[in-house]
Amino acid sequence: MSVEPSLVRSVEALREQVDVWRRSGLKVGLVPTMGALHEGHLTLVRAALAECDRAVVSIFVNPRQFAPTEDFALYPRREADDLAQLALAGVQLVFMPPVEVVYPEGFATAVTVSGSLTQGLCAPFRPGHFQGVATVVAKLFLQCLPDHAYFGEKDWQQLQVVRRMTRDLDIPVAVVGIPTVREPDGLALSSRNHYLSPAQRETASVFPRALREGIERIEAGDPVEAALGAMRDRLAASGFSPIDYVDLVDAVTLEPVRSLGERPLRLAAAAWLGRTRLIDNWPVVTGAGAR
Ligand code: PAF
Repeated sequence: MSVEPSLVRSVEALREQVDVWRRSGLKVGLVPTMGALHEGHLTLVRAALAECDRAVVSIFVNPRQFAPTEDFALYPRREADDLAQLALAGVQLVFMPPVEVVYPEGFATAVTVSGSLTQGLCAPFRPGHFQGVATVVAKLFLQCLPDHAYFGEKDWQQLQVVRRMTRDLDIPVAVVGIPTVREPDGLALSSRNHYLSPAQRETASVFPRALREGIERIEAGDPVEAALGAMRDRLAASGFSPIDYVDLVDAVTLEPVRSLGERPLRLAAAAWLGRTRLIDNWPVVTGAGAR
């Protein structure tokens, strides 16, 4: 049996409910989303419900993180289906603000995380994206003031940007990263996978495979540039175009890495299949931890 979560659309109503919980000593977890929920989101929700006494899910398709050429208008919106899934999952509160509540007339503030976190990987291909994400996440944190907030590791760069922003602004929220949920063929779940045609969906399985093969080569000691080049060739030969990037980076600073040491690394890639942009990343284990 599922119990409908309360649905609030104003910051006042959100704060009122979260205040009551916090004054009763209950721990609150927030899962920020843009809706079109899938198993990846539900995994975040389950983690919030397991670690906290109450879970809040926000659903807001944030216009400020889409460049003018991107898919803001097209981005899937499935309010009724999302609410049904959240009821089944046992979420207590859903925050679904209209755009004028998040960005009222005269809104003039932006949160920018600068430096290596927003220089490479997706940043040059999505101008303004991480500023839009940091701004809306800072707002959601301050509106809700949860104890914990949950993000998927599929958006690794986003997770590092949110961690940095939260630390730099002394926002008292523990940011929790949750491993990527994948289809049986390895494709990372994403709301944008719905854009893929059946034929593209088949081809899409090459994407995680190419990353896995790249990791095996790097972990086996192949030169990094050669492994990255082989991955790019593999993706291009399968019809991915353009390939925005394939890169090996320090997992925390996101600076490109070409010679391996003991630090945690991530292999990350973004490439287009028709009008769908796929992104993914995996940890790379080298040095003492290597197989
Ligand atoms: O990952 C997402 O769905 C969005 O970038 C987020 C974190 C909800 C901010 O709009």
